[in-house]
Amino acid sequence: MSQKVTLIATAAMGLEAIVGKEVKALGYENLQVENGRVSFEADVSAIPRANLWLRTADRVKLQVGRFKATSFDQLFEQTKALPWEDFIAEEGEFPVIGKSVKSKLYSVPDCQSIVKKAIVERLKVKHGVTSWLKETGALHRVEVAIHKDEALLTLDTSGSGLHKRGYRVGQGEAPLKETLAAALVQITNWHPDHPFVDPFCGSGTIAIEAALIGQNIAPGFNREFASEDWHFIPQQAWEDAFQEAEEAANYDQPLNIVGSDIDPELIDIAKKNAMEAGLGDLISWKQMQISDFNPKQDNGYVVSNPPYGERMGDREEVEQMYRDLGTIMRDHPSWSVYVLTSHEGFEKLYGKPATKRRKLFNGFIKTDYYQYFGKHVR
Ligand SMILES: C[S@@+](CC[C@H](N)C(=O)[O-])C[C@H]1O[C@@H](n2cnc3c(N)ncnc32)[C@H](O)[C@@H]1O
Repeated sequence: MSQKVTLIATAAMGLEAIVGKEVKALGYENLQVENGRVSFEADVSAIPRANLWLRTADRVKLQVGRFKATSFDQLFEQTKALPWEDFIAEEGEFPVIGKSVKSKLYSVPDCQSIVKKAIVERLKVKHGVTSWLKETGALHRVEVAIHKDEALLTLDTSGSGLHKRGYRVGQGEAPLKETLAAALVQITNWHPDHPFVDPFCGSGTIAIEAALIGQNIAPGFNREFASEDWHFIPQQAWEDAFQEAEEAANYDQPLNIVGSDIDPELIDIAKKNAMEAGLGDLISWKQMQISDFNPKQDNGYVVSNPPYGERMGDREEVEQMYRDLGTIMRDHPSWSVYVLTSHEGFEKLYGKPATKRRKLFNGFIKTDYYQYFGKHVR
C-alpha cells in the first residue's frame, strides 16, 4: 500500500480553501491549491479516506499525467507513455470524457478518441492482450482536460459526485448542494454544544450536514464509490477507511439543531431525508414562518439559504422576510447569523452591515454569504 498517487479533490469556485483545509485535516501535506482543485500526494489508502470524508469537494480524481500538448501526435505519444496498466486491469472499462479551454487542441471528440486509442495500445502491450480489450470489469472514467495547451489526464475515483451522500430521498424547488451546505456550516465556528437553526430549511440539507459534522459522521458512509472495485487499491484499505469512520463517529454528542420552513410538505421531506441519513429524530423539524421565529436560548447560530426573490412577484415578500429576520435577531445579540443570498440589498433590509462577506456560487448563481458574529454570553 506504499504506492504513491497524486490525487485531485475538485472544488466549486470559492470553496478551494475549505476543501484544502479538509484535506489537511485528513493528515495530507504539501497541497497545491488551484482554481477549482486541490492536489496532493498520498499513498493509495488516501483514495478511500478522501472519498469517505471530504464534505465540500465535488470529486476525488487520480492524476495519471499532466503534460503540454499542442498536436494530436504529442497527445497520443505522451498519453501512451503513462503507466495506465498500474491503474486499469486487463478487463477494466475505461470510457473517456474530455474538455478543452483556450487550447490549440480544441476538438474534444478528437482528443477523447486519441486518448482512448493511446490507452488501448498501451494496455494491450502491457497486459499481453492480442485481440481486443473486453472492458467487462470495473469502471474507470478517464478524463482528458486541456487548459492552455496543458493536458491533465485523470481517473474519477468517486463515481457519482460526492454531494450524493445517499440520504436525499426528496427535495424542494431550490435545494442546496450538500457540498455547499457543508461548506456553509464549516465557514461558521459553530460547535455542536451550541443551538443551530435553519429557519428556511426546505428539504433540510443545511441542518442535516450540520448534524453530520456535529457528530463527526463521514458524509460518504452511506454510499458507494467507483474505485471500490479497482484492483490496485487493496480491499483492506476500504475496510480500514470504513472502520476508521465508524470509530470516529461520535453518536453520543448531543445536538440542538432545528430546521423550520413555512411549507409543511418540505418539513415532511426534510424528516425523511434526516431518517435516511441515519439521524433518526436528532434534528427537530417544525413548520413555521420566519416572522414567528423566536430563539429561546443564547449563543446560537442561524445558518440559512432563504429565497432570493429572483422570480417576478416574489421580491417584496422576500424582502419582508429579510427585514423580519433582522428585527428578530436584533433582540438576540449573542446569536451568530449566516445567510446565503444573491439579493444585493440584503444588509440594508436586514438592518446591519455584515461582520464579514464571502462570495460563493450556488450553482451558477452568484451569491454572497453574509456573516454576523454574535457576542457570546456566559
Ligand atoms: C432556497 S429554499 C431552501 C432550500 C434548502 N436549503 C434545501 O436545501 O432544501 C428557501 C425555503 O424558504 C421557505 N420559505 C419561503 N417563505 C418562507 C417564510 N416566510 N418563512 C419560512 N420559510 C419560508 C421555502 O418554503 C423554501 O423551502
